[in-house]
Amino acid sequence: MANALLLTGCKQLVTMAGPAPRRGRALREIGRVENGAVLIAGGRILATGPQPKVERQAGARRARKMDLGGRVVTPGLVDAHTHLVFAASRAAEYEQRIAGATYEQIAKAGGGILSSVRALRAASDDALAVTAGARLARMAAHGTTTVEAKSGYGLDFDNELRTLKLLRRLGKEQMVEIVPTLLAAHVVPPEFRHPGGADEYVDRIVRLFLPAVALEGLAEYCDVFVERGAFSVPQARRIFAAARALGLKPRLHAEQLARTAGARLAVEVEAASVDHLDFVNGADIRALAQSEVACILLPGCSFHLGLARYAPARQLIDAGAIVALATDCNPGTSPTLSLPMAMSVACTQMRMTPAEALAACTINAAYSLGRHARIGSIEAGKDADLAVWDVQDYREIPYYFGVNHCMDAWKGGKVIRGPE
Ligand code: NIG
Ligand code: FE
Repeated sequence: MANALLLTGCKQLVTMAGPAPRRGRALREIGRVENGAVLIAGGRILATGPQPKVERQAGARRARKMDLGGRVVTPGLVDAHTHLVFAASRAAEYEQRIAGATYEQIAKAGGGILSSVRALRAASDDALAVTAGARLARMAAHGTTTVEAKSGYGLDFDNELRTLKLLRRLGKEQMVEIVPTLLAAHVVPPEFRHPGGADEYVDRIVRLFLPAVALEGLAEYCDVFVERGAFSVPQARRIFAAARALGLKPRLHAEQLARTAGARLAVEVEAASVDHLDFVNGADIRALAQSEVACILLPGCSFHLGLARYAPARQLIDAGAIVALATDCNPGTSPTLSLPMAMSVACTQMRMTPAEALAACTINAAYSLGRHARIGSIEAGKDADLAVWDVQDYREIPYYFGVNHCMDAWKGGKVIRGPE
């Protein structure tokens, strides 16, 4: 076959080969190969395994060779929860919180998500494309090759659709794969903050936003922030019913600041994922473990907000729930672009093992996006999405926190160049 490429010098190859999603003990099964190689053609993986074996297969195909010089190679990372498109940082709020104000106090005073809404509405398409595009490039530089990205700072028809259209444009311009999600139900917009206004806004989402988004194919998923100060379980249920009927699958932000039974709703509506989960109880954990819903943990939030409480990752994993990890990249609670950083916090603060953390942001994250048949592991037939790390052992990826050891990210067999 023409144009085959053989990657050698993979001191450690973490394939994640095996069934998806991973639950319980299986989350530690990462398919490690010492001195491995990967054969690529047409953007796909043709073969992988110990180098001598793959070299024989490559010889028959007269493949070009590239020596990675004894690095660790993993599947390209999958960031399954981000708020990629925002206009400005909220560093002033960061300082207020350090001085003692809470996230909810700042939100009640008109800051928080609403300050990001004001900034996005005032920003031009080009300004938003430049900042979001730069974030995508930095994510790729940290090993991320697929990114779920939500709207949710527009909160009116034009700005929610504008955000999703921008994501479509970025997906065409950049090599990172973008999975778009409508999060019109992030908080109640300023125009609807009167008695009965939240239900009126839900009505608008159901009657106006969702049909338009579905008609133009602008989103795969529909997310709702189920929380005090945001949306209730009955309101979310209504939105999800309408979304489902139009072919958009549910995702939820739930149990982040308090327990509101959003996790139970996720099981009820067979959501693709339920994210945060810091306040789940034992019965919630059992219900999630028996479901097919991915539990996406976002430890960057507790880390950045300086909270002592983290989601009970150990209990969720040990009970058999499908656990994934994501950055939750957003200007309010988790301003990071780095999945390795999220892995570090997950390992140190939630006691996930490095193997579990890596599986959680590759194969299980891919499962949460319905893409586990194509990405999330290095297996013959899958897309050649890889991350190359300048370390000696995969455990060093979360171990060296706050330093980027990713050398290259590959998407569909091509190197994605990060920012210079
Ligand atoms: O995932 N919880 C709701 N949404 C974001 C925060 C967004 C913001 O503060 O701007 C989150 O934590
Ligand atoms: Fe979020």
